[in-house]
Amino acid sequence: MCGIVAYIGKQQAYPLIIDGLKKLEYRGYDSTGVAILEQGISVFKKKGKVQDLENFINTETKNTNGTLGMGHTRWATHGEPNDKNAHPHTSGNQELAIIHNGIIENYTTLKKALIELGHSFKSDTDTEVLIHLIEEVQLKHNLHIEEAVKKALQKVVGAYAIVVIDKKSPDIIIGARNSSPLVFGLGQDEYFLGSDASPIIKHTNKVIYLNDEDVISINRNGDYNISNLKNKTVSHQIKELDLKIEELEKDGFDHFMLKEIYQQPATIAQSMKGRLNASEGWAVLGGMKQHINRISKSKRIIMMACGTSWHSALVGEYLFEEIARIPTEVEYASEFRYRNPIIKEDDFVIALSQSGETADTLAAIEIAKEKGAFVYGIVNVVGSSIARITDSGSYIHAGPEIGVASTKAFTSQISIITLMALYLGHERGMISESDYRELLSELEVVPKRVEQILKKNDHIKYIASEIKSAANALYLGRGYNFPVALEGALKLKEISYIHAEGYPAAEMKHGPIALIDMYMPVIVIATNQSAYEKIVSNIQEVKARKGIVIAIINEDDTIIREMADFFIEIPSIAEPLTPLLSVIPLQLLSYHIALMRGCNVDQPRNLAKSVTVE
Ligand code: M6R
Repeated sequence: MCGIVAYIGKQQAYPLIIDGLKKLEYRGYDSTGVAILEQGISVFKKKGKVQDLENFINTETKNTNGTLGMGHTRWATHGEPNDKNAHPHTSGNQELAIIHNGIIENYTTLKKALIELGHSFKSDTDTEVLIHLIEEVQLKHNLHIEEAVKKALQKVVGAYAIVVIDKKSPDIIIGARNSSPLVFGLGQDEYFLGSDASPIIKHTNKVIYLNDEDVISINRNGDYNISNLKNKTVSHQIKELDLKIEELEKDGFDHFMLKEIYQQPATIAQSMKGRLNASEGWAVLGGMKQHINRISKSKRIIMMACGTSWHSALVGEYLFEEIARIPTEVEYASEFRYRNPIIKEDDFVIALSQSGETADTLAAIEIAKEKGAFVYGIVNVVGSSIARITDSGSYIHAGPEIGVASTKAFTSQISIITLMALYLGHERGMISESDYRELLSELEVVPKRVEQILKKNDHIKYIASEIKSAANALYLGRGYNFPVALEGALKLKEISYIHAEGYPAAEMKHGPIALIDMYMPVIVIATNQSAYEKIVSNIQEVKARKGIVIAIINEDDTIIREMADFFIEIPSIAEPLTPLLSVIPLQLLSYHIALMRGCNVDQPRNLAKSVTVE
């Protein structure tokens, strides 16, 4: 949710900032801006993508010289996406500039007070209020910019990652964070701030992840100081990242989403590497092993997440209850945080997040921890906030996921949850040795099965062409495939803008059946398992109302292939592992439909990859 990057060093800042913004664009892309500090502060900003800003600067031949600069790519919260609301924002005297990711919740009160003091505003944003507040504090108390930022932030309620520059301090960049991520990169005679490591990694792998209420002052000569709002120095360890720049490129694919779908045989294997050995008969996760006594005695599991991660958690409910026999509840983090949830000492709380920065999930974790829960994180981004605040956890090791629509993170999350359920079920003696061994063996070959499904891409593309003009779509699944139906519907709506609903297949007759007519594609996950006959009946009900049935079936299916208008075959697998396969054709189907409808697959409208605001 908004990407920020800043540079101070010996090179020209502008090209580095633009390059960094392109890496961060997945976080928001409705407007872009850059500020360069040389004699004064020059600000360039435009509605649209980074490319639009570059075109504007090139055609207007703007002077972008300077070795200190910062850039922002926006996902609008306050004020519509347009030139004036784009960041950076400047103070009234034009001597300060700011970029911001987050929301200043008390901005209306602050704005009113500042207007009374004579400030006037050009934009509708909360961010402009913050830079005026910093200016007000600086002038009133005659403060250096670092002190002014700290003093102003003490009056602020809300979430922020900010970078502030001051014309009067041309060798200094100030950064600060609270509930929004900020990473400091330490290069050779050059220093960076970024929302994440993606704009930094090309230049240095040495980083410091700032914590809430940290304020950093970075001097061009390499001196830096991190302190909290109360001026107390805070010490941090420098971390060395092993992220590779190639992981942030499309690698010959037309879109990141397609690359990420095709990476799944590798990413699923990677998530299980060193954690599963079918021939020796074990599944173990380091993060659980250290706490296995406590975890295996849990009376209840509570899983918290948002979006696709919530769908993975829902698969987890089926897995933990069936394999480990522990009652499991799945919570929307956004709901959990605003009620008064009951947490008991013997609960095991699991938080799932690809980005590790989702604001609602972070807040829910904090509440669970306050209530004494032991919280386990299942996270993709190494060093992210959720990875750092949870008591223990497992990285899913899917590598950077850039496409806004989550794909490979979903299958890697489910791989980890399956390993957790197996480990726990075995420890608790809730699964027979033969079932345990069989699931381990089948899990190990999932990457190969996914490869087989990816070979059906052309057929899936053909089906996409047949239903691409639909206005609505229904996704149905039962048991393990119900969360997959939800995920399929989410994928379709977020990238193709077709209204889609996921339902447990049997629930269709309680309402959604009224929607079915000859124009309604109904995607049914109908693999040959426990509720097969029931699914056959559901398909009959759809056909009787002339719905277009697209069925995901097993290769040995003989019945549904005769009934469906279209079918996509997937290999048979043990029922608890089905989601790892059945979601793949749904990802491809959405991808092709979105592309055929001319949608921006990687950067769908109104969305951002990492939702760091409420
Ligand atoms: O980074 P997280 O997994 O916490 O993100 C949660 C959701 O914002 C995310 O899954 C979102 O729903 C995706 N756009 C789904 O494709």
